[in-house]
Amino acid sequence: MANIIPIEKLVEKICCPYTKEQLEISENSLVSRKFTYDIVNGVPNLISEGQIEEVVKGEITGNSFVETQEEKIHYANKFETEQEHVGIYYTERDLDSIVPILKDLDHSSVLFLGVGGGMEVRRILRRGLKIEQAYCSDLVVSKCQVVPMTLKEFDIDIGVFASDMSYIPWKGTDTPVVIYQALHHLADEYLDALSRMFSSNYENIIIAEPCGNSLIAVLATQVRQLNA
Ligand SMILES: C[S@@+](CC[C@H](N)C(=O)[O-])C[C@H]1O[C@@H](n2cnc3c(N)ncnc32)[C@H](O)[C@@H]1O
Repeated sequence: MANIIPIEKLVEKICCPYTKEQLEISENSLVSRKFTYDIVNGVPNLISEGQIEEVVKGEITGNSFVETQEEKIHYANKFETEQEHVGIYYTERDLDSIVPILKDLDHSSVLFLGVGGGMEVRRILRRGLKIEQAYCSDLVVSKCQVVPMTLKEFDIDIGVFASDMSYIPWKGTDTPVVIYQALHHLADEYLDALSRMFSSNYENIIIAEPCGNSLIAVLATQVRQLNA
């Protein structure tokens, strides 16, 4: 059964996304010198309204569609039942490429960003990868709350927090970071997000995104075949 990592342990791994300071627990919030972040039903919301781009505000509005308990249960099971959706969206090839990359790294802890309800984590774990701690973050708190439901069948520790992937509230640089089908939601701002990620010196960032350019798509397929 999946265990939720308590806030007291989680706070050792995360930091203020904007100042990179250590966060302190204060009643039902996490605080840095400048910012206060609410903990919403156990999920720290590490986003400050005043710091986010317009495109990100739009994403929060557009992705806040799992609010009630029924909606969360339905969302956690969504790609389990809608088979045709699985075939289109969760391409087996993408996940089959990610798993060997993670296998070659220390994958005892993995940080998943833009994780939604955690469906790609479930599909990665079902491929037999033994991750001990999955840290899962999405922009939207209510989606983060779905993650423990999605991963309930696994013996794993899960740390969940909301964050904007342009400002990653993560202290360590050696934990592999996986971004699956989420970076493109930043539209033109994705380059800023990438440059911030690279300047944070994360050792391994694995990104799987849709490709709208057919030439690049063909080249990517060739590279994949060369690697196979
Ligand atoms: C297409 S969904 C993919 C979710 C998940 N990775 C999956 O494959 O099921 C894109 C997700 O990115 C999240 N998202 C959009 N902009 C984001 C941002 N700036 N930071 C973090 N997550 C973001 C959305 O809330 C949404 O859950």
